[in-house]
Amino acid sequence: MNETMRALRAHQRGGPEQLQLDTIALPTLGPGEVLVEVYATAITFAELTWDETWTHLPAIPGHEFSGVVAALSDDAAGVSVGDEVYGLIRFELEGAAAEYVAVPTADLARKPARLTHAQTAALPLAALTAWQALFDVAAVSEDDRVLVQGGAGGVGIFAVQLAKSVGATVTTTVRGDGVALATSLGADEIIDTDTDDFTERGRRFDVVIDTIGGDALQNSFEVIVEGGRLVTLQGPPDQARAAAAGVEATFFIVAPDVDELDRLSDLADRGELDVVIASTFSLEQGRAAFESGAGTHRAPGKTVLIVRE
Ligand SMILES: NC(=O)c1ccc[n+]([C@@H]2O[C@H](COP(=O)([O-])OP(=O)(O)OC[C@H]3O[C@@H](n4cnc5c(N)ncnc54)[C@H](OP(=O)(O)O)[C@@H]3O)[C@@H](O)[C@H]2O)c1
Repeated sequence: MNETMRALRAHQRGGPEQLQLDTIALPTLGPGEVLVEVYATAITFAELTWDETWTHLPAIPGHEFSGVVAALSDDAAGVSVGDEVYGLIRFELEGAAAEYVAVPTADLARKPARLTHAQTAALPLAALTAWQALFDVAAVSEDDRVLVQGGAGGVGIFAVQLAKSVGATVTTTVRGDGVALATSLGADEIIDTDTDDFTERGRRFDVVIDTIGGDALQNSFEVIVEGGRLVTLQGPPDQARAAAAGVEATFFIVAPDVDELDRLSDLADRGELDVVIASTFSLEQGRAAFESGAGTHRAPGKTVLIVRE
């Protein structure tokens, strides 16, 4: 193994323009950590706007990965060199847009056998966010009518599928190519926001999962039944508005959870959870990968850095 690696890093806070490819020392392993040879890393366009990304500089983005265990710290238990693993990396730690990353063994899950590394890397952050929003926060069940705002985005593709997997009735807002994608994911009703308004036609929902924010978030209060639940991902919702609507409104930040990743792996291995990849880039193209998040009507799904084939 080399003593250095290539890593995508930002030396100061900012947007994609701050990202550059550096050659740096391999990560030093702390207690209970393993060194993972990264095969693929998925990115979240908004992560460069999150305070959690900038707790230290230089910062390596990309907090979800798929790879192979390359080395163990002395007290790393339950994992072996050569294991295929994936996971969500805590935001205060270095990201995985690099050839190697140090990860606590407690946050490592087995890679789903049916998926490629690129598909697997697209799961942890987005699918865990969807899982935790639907089940840990909103306690969605088959009796619920669920609206997923932004069902063609990184989180939205999983929120639609996971809500369907428990038998809920799922409506989703999408636009452009998202319309066809949401159909293929099995949504019961698809609202193309270029031509339709989700607040019309007397629609009512027990649960709204909001991945868009702005007007989509504010207008969601109009369509949730009294006693319903709203989960939003961008920031704390307006609690006065929630109280006036009789709605429980929650913002949370996704956290690693290996039990939940194992359940996602099982769904993926049974062919019951599809991964949608918008586009792939090499590690060298990391800045371009983040730049591809600009604009609207983008390709549905997750954007992935292929670090090694
Ligand atoms: N709290 C947490 O732990 C957590 C975790 C993950 C993500 N997040 C946040 O959740 C949000 C979504 O993340 P993501 O990775 O899923 O983002 P993403 O991949 O950019 O997805 C957003 C989706 O919403 C769609 N959209 C936006 N405005 C729309 C509209 N008016 N009508 C229909 N569709 C619309 C986008 O389509 P277009 O391409 O057409 O715009 C895109 O498909 C971000 O703000 C992110 O910061 C939070």
